[in-house]
Amino acid sequence: MTGPIVEFFPAPRIRRLLPVPPASTPPELGADWPVRSLHLNESPFAPAPEVVAAMQQAAAGLNRYPDHDGLQLVAALAARLGVASDRIVIGAGTNELLFASGEITLDPGDEAIAPDPGFVTYAKIVAMRDATFVGVPVRADGIVDVAATVAAVTPRTRLVYVATPNNPTGGMLEQAHVEKLVAELPDHVLLHYDEAYYEFGRHAGGPDGLALLERRKAPWIATRSFSKAYGLAGARIGYGIASTAAVAEAYRKIRINFSVNAVALAGALVALDQTAHTEALLEHTAQERDRLDAALTRLGFRTFPSAANFITAVAPSPARELTSALRELNVFVLPMPWRDSPGALRITIGTREDNDAVIAGLSRAMAAR
Ligand SMILES: Cc1ncc(COP(=O)(O)O)c(C=O)c1O
Repeated sequence: MTGPIVEFFPAPRIRRLLPVPPASTPPELGADWPVRSLHLNESPFAPAPEVVAAMQQAAAGLNRYPDHDGLQLVAALAARLGVASDRIVIGAGTNELLFASGEITLDPGDEAIAPDPGFVTYAKIVAMRDATFVGVPVRADGIVDVAATVAAVTPRTRLVYVATPNNPTGGMLEQAHVEKLVAELPDHVLLHYDEAYYEFGRHAGGPDGLALLERRKAPWIATRSFSKAYGLAGARIGYGIASTAAVAEAYRKIRINFSVNAVALAGALVALDQTAHTEALLEHTAQERDRLDAALTRLGFRTFPSAANFITAVAPSPARELTSALRELNVFVLPMPWRDSPGALRITIGTREDNDAVIAGLSRAMAAR
């Protein structure tokens, strides 16, 4: 090619987006050091063999497009949840459904509310719609502040994201909080109830959010993921339960053609039935979360109560330095700011060995201060 490169001018709303840091976990220290990927809230365990077998079989038919509507999976979910299948939608991870909520509701200048700190994607979605992002600080215990969320609604608000358990704090709404949300959130907003960590929350004794949401007369969608408790993060598949068939139809209308691939559909369908495999992960996560919580507390961290597959703890010394120290051991965790503190670490619950490596690495880093 000759001549000067013509500069590319994306729309201002795209230019304003922050660059996305790499999300993968390349080994930094060579083959002898296991990569301990504890910054993406993945399952540390492979999917059940039955799931892998179904996916391998589906791979043999990849010359065909997948079933765009995922009818078999939707039917299985409908039966399991006791919800009409025309209220269920699928997406390439719940990420796709989070984006869809923004596309369905937000025009430039509209407002959307989300927890702060919250899943970073909410702010990105709102920015991409040229809408105004209103972050509502989570409570000191890391739980979404329902009263403050309701109070932040204005006539311009079109969309409210609520996450329970919340990422990155792990806090879970109690039944009374959800009841308040359902009773008090105005009707002119779409409530996107993000339950990416739903199975962990239920295992920790959390409320059945869906049953409570059914009382809301205005639009809502609850989304759940196969990435976390079902161990299919790499397959990219999630689903949503919408308040009505009409709300679900809006998601179906805008979905990118065939966004959920055939291998993911086959894996998710079989994963739903692998109850023992899922239960073992939930049990392991709860036990190891308690163990990590106790160890972090001993080291001088202040942990948030977590009902998810990660634990977040306010650090006694700069969180970024601790993250770097762990990185030198090929252990990857997420540093994050937390009010009036040197920052916090969000640590995914890994295998027992992963968690031991975190504890040993942090002990060493704290002793070296
Ligand atoms: C709160 C929350 N919502 C949604 C997602 C998206 O999950 P996925 O697109 O893998 O289903 C995540 C992923 O970490 C999350 O933490």
